[in-house]
Amino acid sequence: MKKIILLGYMGCGKSTIAKELSKKLEIPFIDLDEFIEEKVKMTIKTIFAEKGEIHFRRLEHECFVELLNLPEAVIIGLGGGTPCYANNHELLKREDVESIYLKASIDTLVVRLSLNKSNRPLIANKNDVEMKEFIATHLFERSYYYNQAQHSVVVDQRTIAQTVEDILAILA
Ligand code: S3P
Repeated sequence: MKKIILLGYMGCGKSTIAKELSKKLEIPFIDLDEFIEEKVKMTIKTIFAEKGEIHFRRLEHECFVELLNLPEAVIIGLGGGTPCYANNHELLKREDVESIYLKASIDTLVVRLSLNKSNRPLIANKNDVEMKEFIATHLFERSYYYNQAQHSVVVDQRTIAQTVEDILAILA
């Protein structure tokens, strides 16, 4: 069964949009970060702090593959970095997958992330100026991987409902 994969930078709205999409399509949503946390019984923050980022990236890859191998249709919300490690970006192109990049501008991301960064180890300790600089560089580096997705939708100045409609049109 097909998997629908939502990807994009932290704060682009993957989980919120996936939940709405899940209701519309009546397909379950699995958030990869939550799946990892459940599996190892540790928060992402603690995995980064106690085991390090590379350990997290290995776990993330294993869990992503595990979700792709589920027999049923599911919507998978990736972490912001997932497509950029191991061969994860290749997996976005599988035939049994519809991968969608939720594309947000730097300004949109700064606004959204400044309100919600404490559980995100990569930006938790940055002020708004440092965060903007970090996101600009990071987004530039990551765009190559995000652009391996089969589809993309721009989320700037779009409501959740509008973005869900944009995705439904792609999937129709
Ligand atoms: C990360 C994004 C996070 C989480 C981890 C690393 C990243 O997920 O996987 O903190 O490298 O961009 P969200 O995009 O859901 O915040």
